[in-house]
Amino acid sequence: MNTVKIAPSVLSANFAEMGKEVAKIQAAGADLVHLDVMDGVFVPNITFGIKMVEDVRKITDLPLDAHLMIVHPERYVEKFAKAGADIITVHAEACGDTLAQTLTLIRQCGKKAGAVINPDTPASAVIPVLPLCDMVLVMSVFPGFGGQKFIADVLSKVQEIKCAAESLGKTIDIEIDGGIDPKTAPLAVQAGANVLVAGSAVFGASDCAAAISALRGTKNAQ
Ligand code: DX5
Ligand code: ZN
Repeated sequence: MNTVKIAPSVLSANFAEMGKEVAKIQAAGADLVHLDVMDGVFVPNITFGIKMVEDVRKITDLPLDAHLMIVHPERYVEKFAKAGADIITVHAEACGDTLAQTLTLIRQCGKKAGAVINPDTPASAVIPVLPLCDMVLVMSVFPGFGGQKFIADVLSKVQEIKCAAESLGKTIDIEIDGGIDPKTAPLAVQAGANVLVAGSAVFGASDCAAAISALRGTKNAQ
C-alpha cells in the first residue's frame, strides 16, 4: 500500500558523465531523479542549476525532484519549472515568512510542491503549510554534502508530519534525505517516509540495481 520510492541523488554521480549516470539509475529501477541544487550561500557547497535540470530532462522520463538549497528560492521557481522539474522542494529556513507563497507559486507553475526542514528545524515549521504541500522533505543530515551520517532524531518529525497530514485527510509524500542506506532505510520507512533519497548508497555501489532493491526493502537488508 505505502510503496517506497527510491530517489537517487546525482550529487554522488560523476558530473562529467551525467547522462550515463542518469541512464544507469533509470535502468537500475530508480523512481525519481533527485537533483541537489546548491548555491554556496544557503549551504557551504555549490553544485549546478537550471541548465542541468533542463539537460537531464531531455534524457529521462523519470520524474525530476529538484531540491533547492538556495536562498530566495522564489526567484528561481519558475525557471526550474520551465526547465522540467516535476517536484520542486524549498527549505523552510530559506523561505521564512514566504514559505506558503513560494509553495503556492510552485503549484501555480503546475508542479508538485515540497517544503524541506533541516535536522534542527521543528516539524511545526511545515505543519501549517501542509495543505499546500504535495511532499515534505525531512533532512536527516545537515544539507551540503553527501556521505554524512544519518541523524536518527529526525524520525520523530517524520511521524509527526505523517500524523498531521493524516489528520487533514491528506496523502502526502514524505521524503527523507541524508545517510540513507540499507540499515537506515527501514527505520525511515517505519517512521512513515515513502520517498528515500540516497546518493552514496546508490552511486557508490558496484551493483546499482541491487543497491536500489536493498533500499526498497525487497531484499534482505541485514
Ligand atoms: C545533502 C543532499 C543529499 C545528499 C545525500 O545535502 O541533499 O541529497 O546527496 O547523500 P547521501 O545519500 O550520500 O547521504
Ligand atoms: Zn537532497
